[in-house]
Amino acid sequence: MFQKIRVQLVTLNAAVLLILLLVSGMALYLFLEHRLLERVDDGLRDMQLVAVQQMPDRLVVRPNGRTLDMPMVTIVYDNQGGVVQQAPDSQFVNGDLEALRDLKISDVPQSIKLDGHSYRVLTALAPSVQVTQANPFFPAGLDVTNVQRTLQVVRNIDAEEDVLSTLLVVIVTGTLLGAALTVGAGFFLAGRALVPIRQAWERQQQFVADASHELRTPLAVVQSHSELMLRHPTETVQEQSRNVAVVLKETKRMTKLVSDLLTLARTDSNQLLIEGRALRLDEVVRDVTEDYRLMAELQEMELHTQIHGHLELIGDENRIRQLLVILLDNALKYTMEGGSIEVICRQIGPALELKVSDTGIGIAPDDLPRIFDRFYRGDKARTRAEGGSGLGLSIAQWIVEAHHGKIRAESTLHRGTTVTVSLPTKS
Ligand SMILES: Nc1ncnc2c1ncn2[C@@H]1O[C@H](COP(=O)(O)OP(=O)(O)O)[C@@H](O)[C@H]1O
Ligand SMILES: [Mg+2]
Repeated sequence: MFQKIRVQLVTLNAAVLLILLLVSGMALYLFLEHRLLERVDDGLRDMQLVAVQQMPDRLVVRPNGRTLDMPMVTIVYDNQGGVVQQAPDSQFVNGDLEALRDLKISDVPQSIKLDGHSYRVLTALAPSVQVTQANPFFPAGLDVTNVQRTLQVVRNIDAEEDVLSTLLVVIVTGTLLGAALTVGAGFFLAGRALVPIRQAWERQQQFVADASHELRTPLAVVQSHSELMLRHPTETVQEQSRNVAVVLKETKRMTKLVSDLLTLARTDSNQLLIEGRALRLDEVVRDVTEDYRLMAELQEMELHTQIHGHLELIGDENRIRQLLVILLDNALKYTMEGGSIEVICRQIGPALELKVSDTGIGIAPDDLPRIFDRFYRGDKARTRAEGGSGLGLSIAQWIVEAHHGKIRAESTLHRGTTVTVSLPTKS
């Protein structure tokens, strides 16, 4: 899928760039062609004026000083198309002359290729001339005819064409090279840009797969126990209490799991925001640990709290409570009877530190780096019995990071675990 996106991205980019390069290249080419020919055409027009002035009735045409820098040829035709005069002489002969003669009279100079050379030609009507001839039948008489003439000014534009064709080569190779470079660079860059997207996508896929897997087990348990109950429709709830209890327990587990999943899904899409209000961390800790003291006593554990002073924090009280509950839940869950749990809360520099330590089963060094991963559980078989889904610490980590804090865990197997949270007081 990502390969396809990558190819699409690159093709689109390259196509856009290619079009841009082509358009700008063509524009440059046309502009330059226009400018170059404009100069030639101006020269042709000047020359035409001069030539016309110099041919009142005699056919003498000579380029004047201003146009001498442009090697131009002027040709005068009579009304039959015969060449009356060419200056300089004999520049064009036979076939070339025929091709030139065929050009139409026009205000706009035209381009023509003769013998592999390029020329720009301006063809115009010239003033007519009176031709006086002796009449052979009446020796005394004279024949006077008005001959309409055509004046052509021709200029070689090989140099201009040369510049233009070189430019064309430069534009075409530049465009192709640019396109090739864009494709190469684009492919590389698109690959790099897609890496985080691919990773996020894969994480999301994994998350969905794990979530469905986690939901399947309690659902199967609920289904099988409901079926068991249906087999004895006449039995009372009391007689079926074992099955009812299992169904209830699994439903509770699922509710918790779904709400955790929802939390994480919302954090992923940045829909969950942290409310920043002033709160008293010492009071929150006191409050939450009070709720857990009874539970600890029931499991014959000691719960100590050390709260140092008046600890103020900007943050979301509900989320901080949730964080404490997650940490205390774990401490209680993974500590045996007779163990002890300690909660320490104090100010250290610009941050507040919250430490939850227990003398429980600890975490294997191999598991330690992964306990904050979603769905990660140290001992799958055991924690399943404890009802954990492996999402607690992921949520805890999100809460801490949303408060711009840090969370870390230290643990010695069979000795105990300490989770330390540090929250900056100004977040
Ligand atoms: N206080 C603790 N003592 C021992 N192991 C712990 C403790 N806290 C967390 N763990 C380990 O980290 C894993 C992940 O914890 P958590 O995300 O809260 O998931 P859950 O508690 O649902 O299994 C647990 O399965 C457990 O193996
Ligand atoms: Mg937990």
